Amino acid sequence: MLEINNLSKIYGEGENKVKALDNVSLSIEQGEVVLIVGSSGSGKSTLLNMIGLLDQPTNGKIFIDGTNTTTLDDNEISSFRNKKLGFIFQFSNLLTDLSVLENVLLPREIEGTNNTAEKDARDLLKTVGLEDQMYKRANKISGGQAQRVAIARGLINKPSIVLADEPTGNLDSVSSETIVQLMKSMAKKLNQTFIIVTHEKEIFGDVDRVITIKDGKAFEGDQPSKMEVLA
Ligand SMILES: Nc1ncnc2c1ncn2[C@@H]1O[C@H](COP(=O)(O)OP(=O)(O)O)[C@@H](O)[C@H]1O
Ligand SMILES: [Mg+2]
Repeated sequence: MLEINNLSKIYGEGENKVKALDNVSLSIEQGEVVLIVGSSGSGKSTLLNMIGLLDQPTNGKIFIDGTNTTTLDDNEISSFRNKKLGFIFQFSNLLTDLSVLENVLLPREIEGTNNTAEKDARDLLKTVGLEDQMYKRANKISGGQAQRVAIARGLINKPSIVLADEPTGNLDSVSSETIVQLMKSMAKKLNQTFIIVTHEKEIFGDVDRVITIKDGKAFEGDQPSKMEVLA
């Protein structure tokens, strides 16, 4: 469902040139929860941004559900991103003028709503434990609750892949635990792929896969002695 072939990303030119991703190849199956770990500056966000069509690779191909996303034009990219990808960032980026429910519905409205949209949003908000907060304005809830709204919003279009960049990076340990358990249970319940960049691998417990990024290269696993380069 996700296949990456020989992906490279170079930022800048001449002396300022940075090779943020260096010939990365990997594939991820539907329903997998994959953690991306590695030190700061190793290329984790760059990889996620390429998969999320938020930035263009310098070289290589990314196939999502069989579509080579590196050949899409700008219009196709926006539509593909909204339909096929869900995003959870470190800061939940909710629109504070809107209610919790309206925030969850936003990606669905961009697609043109249908009559199950509101029910789907309510169901998701129930699943993340916010059924009694639906009509609150998004600036009246806590950071942990906002991140739960972000999960519901990320899932509303039934995406192929949910991409999460440090989703617990701004939360206390109790809220982090809730967010992690929610993502894992949603993955199982919906057979939903999650690709999660994190500094806090320990709080995730068992996951399907861990990929380490080091100097722009991807390695299977997180045990330095056993790590195999993915290329
Ligand atoms: N927009 C950008 N312009 C120039 N360099 C960048 C840009 N984004 C990231 N980089 C560089 O690419 C490398 C990888 O960055 P990043 O993917 O953000 O790492 P991580 O998420 O693992 O901390 C770093 O050296 C970073 O400074
Ligand atoms: Mg990062």
